[in-house]
This record gives sequence, C-alpha cells and structure tokens, in this order.
Amino acid sequence: MMVVRAAALLLGLVVSCSSDFAPPTISINLDDPATARWEPILTVFDADYLKRAAAEVIDSSIPKWLHYVLKPLVKTSEMFILPEPYGEELRGLAAHFDGSLSDVIMLNFAYEVSAYCTSIVAQDTDGNLFHGRNLDYPHSPILRNLTINVDFLKDGKVAYSGTSFAGYVGLWTGQSPYKFTVSGDQRGKDHWWNFWKNVVSAFLLGRSPVSWLMRETLEEAENFQDAVMRLAKVPIITGVYYIVGGARAGEGVVITRDRASPADIWPLDPLNGQWFRVETNFDHWRPPPATDHRREAANKAMNATGQGFINMHTLYQVLSLNPVCNEITVYTTTMSAATPEEYTTFVRPQGCHGNL
Ligand SMILES: *[C@@H]1O[C@H](CO)[C@@H](O)[C@H](O)[C@H]1NC(C)=O
Ligand SMILES: *[C@@H]1O[C@H](CO)[C@@H](O)[C@H](O)[C@H]1NC(C)=O
Repeated sequence: MMVVRAAALLLGLVVSCSSDFAPPTISINLDDPATARWEPILTVFDADYLKRAAAEVIDSSIPKWLHYVLKPLVKTSEMFILPEPYGEELRGLAAHFDGSLSDVIMLNFAYEVSAYCTSIVAQDTDGNLFHGRNLDYPHSPILRNLTINVDFLKDGKVAYSGTSFAGYVGLWTGQSPYKFTVSGDQRGKDHWWNFWKNVVSAFLLGRSPVSWLMRETLEEAENFQDAVMRLAKVPIITGVYYIVGGARAGEGVVITRDRASPADIWPLDPLNGQWFRVETNFDHWRPPPATDHRREAANKAMNATGQGFINMHTLYQVLSLNPVCNEITVYTTTMSAATPEEYTTFVRPQGCHGNL
C-alpha cells in the first residue's frame, strides 16, 4: 500500500511544472480611504500595462458587440448603488488605471462569469485542515502576469489575505488567519445576456457579486461557523460553490449556492471515512459531464495519497496532476487557517499539459 502511495506521489512530481512562480504580494491598508487603497498595485505594475491588460481581458471575455451595448448600460448602473467600499475602490482604480469607470466595472464582472476551478478541503489523521484550489480561466494568458497575493491590513496587522488579479476588488481565494479559509468555484454557466440582466437586477435588489461576499465574509466573520452561515445565506448575483476550511477538526464544507439561498451543504464527515471533499464546477450529487475528468482524477489522487499523508505539499501534488491542473490553470493556492504563514500561491506559467 505504501509503495502504491509513494508511486502516486512520484507521478505527481513528474507532471508538476518546474517553472511555477510565486506572484508578487501587495499590502492594501483598509484604514486608507477606499479610493486610495489600491494605489500600491502601481508599485508592481505600470499603469499602461494594466490598461492594456484590462482591455485584453475585456476583449477576450466579452464579445465586441456586447461590450458596445453594455457600455451605456454600465454607465447608467454606476448611478445605482455600487455597494461600498467596492464602489469607491472601483472609482479609485479607474483613476489609477487612467481608464473609464465602466471599463473597470466590466473588468470586475468579466471574471465573475468564467472561473472554472477545482477546490479540495481535507482533514489529516491528526485533525489538521488543509485547503487547496486551482483557478482555471479560459481566455486570457495575461492573467498569469496579473496574479497577486494581497494582504489586507487593519491597524497595521493582516486582517485577511487572498489571491486575486490586479484591478479586481473581489476575492475568489482567501484566508482569515486562525479562523477559516475559503475558495469559490463557478456553478453552471450563464449566458452573458442573462448574466448582465442578473447583475442589474441584483444591484437593484441589493445582491452581492459572489467574490464580494467572499471578501466581506473574510473581513467580518468571527469564525468558521459564522463564515459558513454568511456564505450560505446572503443573497448573491449567481450560483456558486463556496468551499470553506476551518482551524479545528471537523471544520470543512462545500456550500452549493443558488442566488437566494443554499441548495446544499456538504460537510466533511471524517468519522465515517469522508476526510476530504473535492468540488469542481458541478453539483456533487450529479455526475460531471463525460468529457470532464477533473473530479474523478482528484478523488483518485486523494485516495492514493491517504489521510495519513495529506499535507500542504501532497495537496499541491494532487492539484498538479493533469487534468486537475490543465492548459487553462492560472494559479494554485494551498492554505490552512491554523497555520496562516504557510499560505502559498504558485502561478502556472504554461498551465499543465497532460502526459499521463
Ligand atoms: C508575462 O510576463 C512575462 C515576463 O515578464 C512576459 O515574457 C510575457 O510576455 C507576459 N505575458 C503576457 C501574456 O503578457
Ligand atoms: C475513494 O475512496 C472512497 C472510499 O474508499 C471510495 O468510496 C471512492 O469511490 C474512491 N474514489 C475514487 C475515485 O477512487
């Protein structure tokens, strides 16, 4: 048995890419006014590069004609209530980018619709929690260069951290130290026109983009349980999976969200041998599409690793196996709320290509 496990791990090593690199880390001071908060990104990227990158992301994710139709619509929706602090942060970014606010808003929503992902939460035999995620994005290789780790500071201390893209104010991956870790995976696929209809009606109804709810939860939740309640209940713009890991044994869950309410709660059940949960982009109680093998491959690799051998390193190996890691994988994060200093993100410069 041990030999089989060792072999599986070795295979993982062979496929993982040696050129993976750590993204830059920037500090955002929450005690600064929201419009000035994101200025530190200009210490890492120049404004021209960011502007070109933003244009490329928008062009590759939003059809030209739709961009044209949306622009005036987004302009009017600027007048609705962009919830704070995000409204002010976007206004500040538009100023730093020297771009239009409508482009910055579109950029922030462009990401919202097409994040394919794999998230895993697992508990080892000593009750330690580990949480890992791959973020896959189909369109734009430039995102690899825009990936940043962000420490959000309050009173000079890290209040929470996450991994994001320069110009994007929400979080898809984050950690509240000693409390919980969270990742979001897209659920289902909306057509653009439906999506934008949802965005507009959502703002009118006071619903949050899914990545804003994640950030708000990281900022405000007291502990794992509080985080799970918020992520399960607060109305959001579109369905999503929230994967949450805590700092104590038993604290791990996959929340399947409808817009208004939870559709399903799927906790770890280590006493009954369910020591990990894998979530990709499909409801866990239904089979994934026949062409998508990520879930099965991740489940197999987790089984092959074994509960006694799971840790940050072996979890990274699982997330490096093709097709769990694939051509469009942008970055991999591994984290554990009880040991926040071990939060690690690696960008996959070429994605991962299958040779198994
Ligand atoms: C990303 O950055 C690298 C190194 O600076 C550069 O060679 C590459 O062309 C950039 N890729 C994109 C898509 O901008
Ligand atoms: C992993 O192991 C569990 C428990 O033994 C089993 O139910 C499941 O089918 C296995 N999954 C895969 C993909 O091998």
